[in-house]
Order: sequence, then structure tokens, then C-alpha cells
Amino acid sequence: MNNTQNYISSHKEQFLNELLDLLRIPSISADPAYAKDVEKTAHLIAEQFTTLGLDKVEVCATKGHPIVYGEKIIDPALPTVLVYGHYDVQPADPIDLWTDPPFEPVIKKTEIHPDGAIFARGACDDKGQMFMHVKAVEAMMRSGELPCNVKFMIEGEEEVGSDNLEEFALNNVERLKADIILVSDTGMLANDVPSVTTGLRGLSYVEVEVTGPNRDLHSGLYGGCVANPINILTKMIASLHDENNRITIPGFYDKVIELSNEERAEMAKAPFSHDAYCKALDIEDTYGEKGYSTMERGSIRPTLDVNGIWGGYIGEGAKTVIASKAYAKISMRLVPDQNPNEITKLFMDHFTSIAPKGTKVKVTPHHGGEAAVTPIDSIAYKAASIAYEETFGVKPIPVRSGGSIPIVAMFEKVLGLKTILMGFGLDSDAIHSPNEHYGLFNFYRGIETIPYFYKHFTELSK
Ligand code: BES
Ligand code: MN
Ligand code: MN
Repeated sequence: MNNTQNYISSHKEQFLNELLDLLRIPSISADPAYAKDVEKTAHLIAEQFTTLGLDKVEVCATKGHPIVYGEKIIDPALPTVLVYGHYDVQPADPIDLWTDPPFEPVIKKTEIHPDGAIFARGACDDKGQMFMHVKAVEAMMRSGELPCNVKFMIEGEEEVGSDNLEEFALNNVERLKADIILVSDTGMLANDVPSVTTGLRGLSYVEVEVTGPNRDLHSGLYGGCVANPINILTKMIASLHDENNRITIPGFYDKVIELSNEERAEMAKAPFSHDAYCKALDIEDTYGEKGYSTMERGSIRPTLDVNGIWGGYIGEGAKTVIASKAYAKISMRLVPDQNPNEITKLFMDHFTSIAPKGTKVKVTPHHGGEAAVTPIDSIAYKAASIAYEETFGVKPIPVRSGGSIPIVAMFEKVLGLKTILMGFGLDSDAIHSPNEHYGLFNFYRGIETIPYFYKHFTELSK
């Protein structure tokens, strides 16, 4: 792979500039106002594919945002790697908290990224990580070292639940035939502690609305006499955790797979500093389910969190009012074998049942998805492990992550394919937050590592 690595080291500036162009387009999938930009991003990626020399390049229309496809089949007898990634990004708000505009990327040094990091929405999640694959394949193709077949499927709706991806997969089972799905949309422990993500949590996401009286009321005339929806909603939410921070929804833990003591001991070997963790977040202590470590709480245990809550008067000054309605958005992160639909149903039944007389509750489910675990005795894991060792000089640690990529379980069901998660981001890269960034080290090291995965996956598949 010497030619490939030489190509990479002599094209770093070009790779970076192309990524910056991609980051300049605000491809926010959640906001219809940006639909044109999302579309433009899809076409820019398709253009990249064509320039690269991929075949059958297509911007595939869906009921929502398009999926970009391209492939290079060098020999049908060789293995095929299917790369998945997403070109859509989260909204940038709260925009005031960005030091630089979110869609005008700048490179700045940080304590963790002394070589510099690219600050922009999508820099890490997932344009920067997805683009590493395009450039890694470019390097292998240009240097005549692509060892196997490759297919790309880059979607534009990951951040809004991948609503149209299952139908696309179902309609394209033949086209998407492959031996492994390769994804860089997760993280690693640290720049000198590479890791391979071996699990993702599932997700159930609901929106709740509590209605009290049929109109807003004077809080003096009616205060104390009717159920105040905001008081009630907060009380109901508070009751969803017990004193040990366990979730109180009946049946919630029924299907949770508990890890064995051996597995937990194995997990505990991953480096983790409680002090550094607290210091980075400016908190005195961590908080969570009794009996589990922070690492465990954030990966192998299910959770319930309010993501947003609103109602009543939030303008300047004081307005004495009892609002008619109160709202909250609630996410539940799930672990194997919790089923998102079942959990949503359990939530609905429970939440409705605890609403006092004089209130009405409406629960609206949003997108969700199943958890996934990936094996560490597979050819793909071994190939990834060797690849990291080649470029980092150390073996990666297998780590289960707390985030969700619902399509991993879906692809396994629909396409019968396993996924290998080679993420190069860091938890501190502020994905979904203001000042999201991605280390230049991570970007380049990713591009360098990926070709070794192709090489070893092909060799181990023989
Ligand atoms: N790339 C993230 C998921 C992720 C990040 C997994 C870091 C592991 C480590 C993905 O884009 C994402 O944000 N997923 C959403 C779920 C989706 C259904 C909106 C999430 O986890 O909140
Ligand atoms: Mn992502
Ligand atoms: Mn995301």
C-alpha cells in the first residue's frame, strides 16, 4: 500500500480543501428551508464519485432527501465493501454559541488537537468522516492498489431518522450486495488510544403534550384550583426515575440483556479517567444508575432523558399565567434486546396512566431504531484491528458506544450484512453542539487507515 500512502501524503491539501467545500453547504436535513442545500450536497458528492472514476453514479431520489450511490467493481469474484455514511447535518442552533459561523469552516488548534481541527457543523458528524472514505478509495484507485470491489451509499436523512433508507435497501438488494458494510460515523477513545465501536444503542423518541384547562388562565384567579400542566408534566417526568436512577416504566428492563461479570471486567479495562471526564464538562461528579460505572451507564444501560421542555410564558419580565399546555421531547436509549416499538408502547401506556384527573396527555412517537452489537471474532474486526495497528502502532480497543445508528440493525435484517464501525471522531469533538470540530490528525489518519482495512479484509476473506 506504499503507493496509496504516498498518494495520500502528497494530496493532503487537496483533500482538506475539498472537505471544506462540502462543509460550506448547510445540508440541514431537519429544516425544509435547507432542502436545496441538501440536494446540492448530494450532487457535489456524486460529482466527486464521477471524478474519482466510480461507475453507476446516481443521485437516487427518495420521498425525502436523495441517496448518493456509486461503485467500482474490479472483479466480481473479489469481496465487496459497502461504504455507508451521511451527508446531512444537524441544525446549527444555538447559533450564538458558535465562535465562528457554522458553515464557514476554520482551522484552529485546541488542547486535544494541537495539529489543528476543522470547526464547522458536520466536520465530524459525518461529512468529514464520510469523506475520508471517498479520499481513501481515490488514493487506492489512483495508485492502482484497490484490492477489492467497493460500493458507496451516502444518505441525506440520517439525522432525521433515515425514514426512506429501508425502502431503498429493500428495492436495491441486488445492487447493494456486499460482504461487509463499512461505516465511519462513531468515535474512538483518544488519538493515541484507537478503538473500534462494537455496539450502538437503540432509540425510542417521543413527544408528549399535557393539556390542562382549555385556555391560558390568570394564575391568581385560577392558581391552586386547577391542574397546572407544567407543574404536572415536570412531576410526571420526575417520577420516571426512582431513587437509584432506574427507570420506573413497568416492563422497561424486561428484555435488557445483562452483561456477565467477565464482560463487565473486560469493559472496565478501557482507559477512563473520572476526573478528566468531570473536568472536561465542568461538573463536580457524574450522575446515573446505581450499580454501574460511567462507561456502562453510557453504553450497555438504557436511559431516559428529556431533550427539550417548554410551555407557558418565557418572554421578558413576569406574566402571571397558567398555561393550557406543556410539552416535552423525551429520548430513550435502548440496549439489546429492547424493541423500540415495544418500549414506545410501554412509555405511552405508563405516561398516560400517571396523568391525574383534570389533564389530558398526548404522546406522539418519533423515529426510533434498534440497538446493534458487532462481533469481535469476525474477519472484518480482525482486518480493522490490523489496519489500526499499521497506522497507530497499537491494537484498537473494542468499545460499545452510547449513540445510535439505527440503520446498522436494519441493514442486517434487510441486506443480511454486518457492519464494521471504524470511527475516528472524539467525544470531545462536540457533534450536534456548537463549535463541532474534527481533528486534522483524525481526518488524515482515517484516510491512511482505511486502505489497510480493504487490504486485510480482502486477504483474510480468501
Ligand atoms: N453519528 C451519530 C451517532 C453516533 C455518534 C454514534 C457518536 C456513536 C458515536 C449519528 O449521526 C446520530 O447522531 N444519531 C442519532 C440518532 C438518529 C436516529 C437521529 C443519535 O444518536 O442521537
Ligand atoms: Mn452521524
Ligand atoms: Mn448525528
